[in-house]
Amino acid sequence: MQYLVLKIVTNCIARSVMFSGRAWRVLRFGEPKEAVELQEMTWGEPPSGQALIRVRTAGAGFPDVMMTAGHFPLLGAPPFGLGEEAAGEVVAVPPNSRFAVGDQVTGITAFLEGRGGYAEYAYVREESAIRIPADMTDEEAGGFPIGFRTAYAGLVERAPVEAGQTLLVLGAAGSSGASALQLGKAVGATVIAVAGSQEKLEFCTRYGADHVVNYRTDDVTTRIDEITGGCGVDVIYDPVGGDTAATALKSIARNGRIAMIGVASGAPVPLDSMDMLLRNYTAVGVLATPHDDPDTETAAWDRLANLAKQGAITTPVGTVYGFDEVR
Ligand SMILES: NC(=O)c1ccc[n+]([C@@H]2O[C@H](COP(=O)([O-])OP(=O)(O)OC[C@H]3O[C@@H](n4cnc5c(N)ncnc54)[C@H](OP(=O)(O)O)[C@@H]3O)[C@@H](O)[C@H]2O)c1
Repeated sequence: MQYLVLKIVTNCIARSVMFSGRAWRVLRFGEPKEAVELQEMTWGEPPSGQALIRVRTAGAGFPDVMMTAGHFPLLGAPPFGLGEEAAGEVVAVPPNSRFAVGDQVTGITAFLEGRGGYAEYAYVREESAIRIPADMTDEEAGGFPIGFRTAYAGLVERAPVEAGQTLLVLGAAGSSGASALQLGKAVGATVIAVAGSQEKLEFCTRYGADHVVNYRTDDVTTRIDEITGGCGVDVIYDPVGGDTAATALKSIARNGRIAMIGVASGAPVPLDSMDMLLRNYTAVGVLATPHDDPDTETAAWDRLANLAKQGAITTPVGTVYGFDEVR
């Protein structure tokens, strides 16, 4: 529902090892209309560990908005390119690459180096990329990597949720939330989805939520109490923070974990260390960065790709925009 995908129509001409085309770049912090401009760029041979793709689609995420406004903590001053994730055809690889020219891949771009996916070409990090499974559409592929790799970091690596446990997902109709909802179901958890409208709750039910709670109209604490028989939730997946997360935290079970993913509300979840001590729960920060061991990282992506092939996880595509509509 909140998942936006940018469809890119390429019209540039490939040269032997250099490619040229257009890229949307933040030239100054501010509102997209003033901050983001289309520039002519060139792409040289990819460095070790990166493949160069001709982009067909790119996921449009909340972090792109944060980057444009100057609120993204991992990037310095402009200029830099937008787009954390992109899908398309490999056009150049370094020696000993996992990929070959012509492969169809989706992956996390080199956006932290200022080269994003809202462009006609993009570098993707080989360790954070997969071949696009046969049944995955271009639009699904363009929005796959960030949401699901983050959900994997939260629910498998950092705050593991086990089969039979209860997972509460905040912002569950957003891109992070909808990915966590599905991955939670795929690992066998009972999933309670929290969102802010009836339409969003219906969306969460379609994507497998066992229970849905509207935080704007329901008494969240009472509803979770009813759903869990007073036991509380084992894991909270929190891309929202602020008051919504603070309310959810009242319902965390003994030995529970809150996975802190993001701040869509504008503020992180407020934590009270004395409360954590007295109620025996853990708060875990989650940033979906590649694992130090490349084999472990590849295994994470293989598992996600297999779940996608089985149809257990799917990018929910909400709106598709054209390349010219980035602003
Ligand atoms: N840790 C990581 O590695 C990682 C990776 C990706 C994203 N993130 C972070 O996760 C957060 C969410 O990203 P996303 O891509 O999931 O965003 P998204 O698709 O826009 O979804 C965010 C959800 O948050 C809820 N929300 C509550 N208050 C909001 C507000 N004031 N403004 C906007 N939404 C609000 C909305 O649901 P309701 O209408 O139902 O409230 C919305 O569906 C961001 O802070 C992002 O930077 C972190």
